[in-house]
Amino acid sequence: MTINPVFTDAVPVAPIDPERQFLDDVLAGLSAPQKFLSAKYFYDAAGSDLFEAITRQPEYYPTRTELGILDAQGAAIAAALPARASLVEFGSGSTAKVRRLMVHRPDLAAYVPVDVSESFLRSEAEALAVDFPDLAIMPVAADFTRAFTLPASLPGGPVAGFFPGSTIGNFEPPQAASLLRHFGRVLGDGAVLIVGVDLVKDKAVLDAAYDDAAGVTAAFNRNLLVRIQRELGADIDIEAFAHRAFFNPEASRIEMHLVSQATQAIHLAGHRIDFAEGETIHTENSYKYTIEGFRQLAKAAGWVAGEVWTDPDALFAIHALRRD
Ligand code: SAH
Ligand code: AVI
Repeated sequence: MTINPVFTDAVPVAPIDPERQFLDDVLAGLSAPQKFLSAKYFYDAAGSDLFEAITRQPEYYPTRTELGILDAQGAAIAAALPARASLVEFGSGSTAKVRRLMVHRPDLAAYVPVDVSESFLRSEAEALAVDFPDLAIMPVAADFTRAFTLPASLPGGPVAGFFPGSTIGNFEPPQAASLLRHFGRVLGDGAVLIVGVDLVKDKAVLDAAYDDAAGVTAAFNRNLLVRIQRELGADIDIEAFAHRAFFNPEASRIEMHLVSQATQAIHLAGHRIDFAEGETIHTENSYKYTIEGFRQLAKAAGWVAGEVWTDPDALFAIHALRRD
């Protein structure tokens, strides 16, 4: 296997102790009146595998729909990128989507996948290097919500962003706007950002997408507890927490929770955390937008909203944003 030499030129992770941060965040979240955990902690190696398995479930339409838009309209979407751009992908996960842009843009100067799930990031970058041997691939293991620097060896010239998967939906709208603003700062003036956003739709379709019959989303949700148990040494009866996911139409979001099946306590780093029967840990939101609603959010974050591509059933949208 040939590895692009530039692949080794990764930027160091943000200078925080990730384990300490995980413990602090878990303790803060589980001490709140409505217990919560940050969705970014879903993604260790097992969590990334579980997410990929979710994308193959018949109920989970977003991935195959966005791939369908990229298959049908990839040339037009790729044409929104400036010539010889370096492309930064936020929350890159599997590189299936960006490949559908790359085939139309052999002039890309570099590709910078950014993800917290480090081992998956590395293996995906290695596989990509085999298929695109002439492309400079510079993975960055980082939390994209925090300050991070692009690789020092990034070629000069325009920088563009790609943020597929509707990962933007996992942030509350004010945080989503801050994140888009932050991406604007990372990418610089004149940047283009291509963002995939899931659209509002029938509640039954949404409910099923987040509670698949095979129980893969349930396992993904419980993987948060598995991580807390393994990495932080907590004593947790994982099976004593049930998966619950539903569309909340007032907030236009899917909510995922872990529901305590009994009155119980877990112990973590010298702390005791009590649960009433039926009490929940709110583990994820997945906001669903109208096309116009997302354009307004992007404008409020300092972007000029441009072209929008969607599928024939209007399930999912891909937006081109520009920064003056
Ligand atoms: N872009 C892929 C993956 C979406 S899943 C797709 O469209 O299919 C969300 C991805 O974002 C995961 O790979 C996860 O590890 C990553 N991620 C989530 N929160 C993140 C954060 N705060 N910083 C960096 N990566 C993050
Ligand atoms: C990554 N993110 C956009 C997914 C979503 O649909 O909100 C995560 C996910 N959670 C449950 N299923 C998939």
